[in-house]
Amino acid sequence: ASDEVGLNLADVAEAARRRLNPVHWDFFAGGAGDERTLRANEAAFGRRWLRPRVLRGVGERDLRVSLFGSPLSMPVLIAPTAFHRLAHPDGEVATARAAADAGTVMVVSMAATRSVEEIAAAGGPLWFQLYPHTDLGFTTTVVRRAVAAGCRALVVTVDSPVFGRRERDLRHGFVDLPPGMVCENMRDASGRVRDIEMNARVSWELVSVLRRLTTVPILLKGVLHPEDARLAVEHGVDGVLVSNHGGRQLDGVTATLDALPAVVAAVDGRLPVLVDGGLRRGTDVLVALALGATAVLVGRPVLWGLAVAGAAGVRHVLDLLRTDLDRALALVGVARPGDLSADLVVSGAPG
Ligand code: FNR
Repeated sequence: ASDEVGLNLADVAEAARRRLNPVHWDFFAGGAGDERTLRANEAAFGRRWLRPRVLRGVGERDLRVSLFGSPLSMPVLIAPTAFHRLAHPDGEVATARAAADAGTVMVVSMAATRSVEEIAAAGGPLWFQLYPHTDLGFTTTVVRRAVAAGCRALVVTVDSPVFGRRERDLRHGFVDLPPGMVCENMRDASGRVRDIEMNARVSWELVSVLRRLTTVPILLKGVLHPEDARLAVEHGVDGVLVSNHGGRQLDGVTATLDALPAVVAAVDGRLPVLVDGGLRRGTDVLVALALGATAVLVGRPVLWGLAVAGAAGVRHVLDLLRTDLDRALALVGVARPGDLSADLVVSGAPG
């Protein structure tokens, strides 16, 4: 793999585009509506400029961070994305192997195409992403299964009361997985595979319901408004993830990088704040951390690496981000992610 896969994540994306069935490429790459939010996520990084410090004697950088008791080799995690077997026959098992090799967390999607037990056997640490279903019994079954398999945190997606309208998929008539693939973790007690359900009835009561089900840390994924961040703290969640689902749910939503500072201010150090959406370079990771994120997640780049070279491709994507972040830290004069501060970033015209 390595450099044949690409010198940067844009190369890896292009290699994946050439390799993937165009219908599946569009499923992975696309967003909701006019895809304004999809574009805005990446564009927001283009409006931030770095203001480095010099002569700081940074020496060797140390990228390690600890999150909810899991030591990570770097503050970059794998976001939950659906249907990895569309990208590679090994599916989520390959992704998990790469995450384990890279020393970071993979968040397993509820819409994974391999079972959480098989994924856990390939490596960890894993967290599990949950769409809260109206059927509490079913939600309980899924959560208990994920935790029993070894998932160390629950990432509850709260930006999806209904499905976003993804017009690329509508144009292709892409509605379901090909024969032979199912969402393996959607089996109910009798082994029947349920459909992923979007639940518009969920409210803040969900947090205490989930608390009664499990003792693992609970994060809310898809928080954008600072008032919701404050409510998340009040309801005793363990972390918030600033996300707009990679622009796949509500088009017109602000870029996650633009939403981040107000959420960080509202949380005021009481919980870790994570962010995803449009991170493609080590400098993007650096900017997000400097603006107050404890760690970041990447979605699509992992799928591109998986499509191009399976586990080795995912590993390559993570290695690119790691070396890029390490270099960027040295060049702004900071040795550790936790030492980054907002004064290192200024906003300006896009470049
Ligand atoms: C996603 N995302 C997602 N989120 C989630 O909570 N559950 C899921 O099953 C999925 N599935 C999914 C599939 C695909 C193909 C994509 C691209 C995204 C959203 C994901 O977790 C994350 O928020 C974004 O992907 C982050 O943006 P980038 O890194 O892709 O720009």
